[in-house]
Amino acid sequence: MKINLAIVFVAVLAFPSWCQTIESDSSFTFAFLTDIHLKPEMNAPVGFQMAIDKVNELNPDFVLSGGDQVYDVMRGNQERSDSLFTLYKEMSKGFNMPVYNTVGNHDLFGIYAESPEDESHPDYKYGMFERYFGDTYYSFDHKGWHFIVLNSLDVTEDKRYKSIVHSDQLIWLKRDLEKVASKTPIVVVTHIPLVTARTQVTGSGQQVENASAVFSMLENHNLKLVLQGHIHWKEYGHVNDRFHFITGGSIAGNGWKGRRHNTKEGFVLIKVTGSTLTWEYLDHGWEAKRIEMGW
Ligand SMILES: [Fe+2]
Repeated sequence: MKINLAIVFVAVLAFPSWCQTIESDSSFTFAFLTDIHLKPEMNAPVGFQMAIDKVNELNPDFVLSGGDQVYDVMRGNQERSDSLFTLYKEMSKGFNMPVYNTVGNHDLFGIYAESPEDESHPDYKYGMFERYFGDTYYSFDHKGWHFIVLNSLDVTEDKRYKSIVHSDQLIWLKRDLEKVASKTPIVVVTHIPLVTARTQVTGSGQQVENASAVFSMLENHNLKLVLQGHIHWKEYGHVNDRFHFITGGSIAGNGWKGRRHNTKEGFVLIKVTGSTLTWEYLDHGWEAKRIEMGW
């Protein structure tokens, strides 16, 4: 009898901490900031710092940046382009949590015909991004969720960017998914939207041309969320009771001059609880500041 009571006592003591461990492992928040378009002009560093401060206040586990970290290196020379990436890299050290970057079209070095550099340059296209931030596509795990960051860009023969998940990456994605259990919740991050209503609403817009190849690879997996950037447009959808997609507005708005598509500058905070998620779009105060200062 004494032994039984002791077991009960130990179990009662142990249960609350076991509960807390499970709960903290499966509940977390993360921030999705996209289209920061950082540059020294237009008081952009002031606006980006406001976003960093707001994120730090909220204290998510990590930050995902959805691409176009800088504006821009497509047309740029080496010196200006390096200075933009250095500015972003230094400022983003101000986040109190890890930052995962996605490559955007404006982060592709020297790809436009007007750039003084060309494909012979070691930083060409993905090279500069890779030098500062590492691979342009990768995955990581966080508290039982699997995050896949895609590179949704390539370059045409006539030196424009195009929206595609290139074939090498599709091979990598297949191998990556082979290591992920079918029940593991998955988040995909992409600069160019895989799915968007913008084309239908405005008659113009861009989306990944082989998006269906990506979705078909995810068909037997627990895709929960697709996070997207590029169009500085805020939209949300829930597809077939299966996955959500969020196009996350932008930090820069219309080139730091005001809203684009009527979407206020801001970012998305995602809250995960177990295998479900909720989200909100948060204003970090740039619009009010810009108007107050007459910028
Ligand atoms: Fe952008």
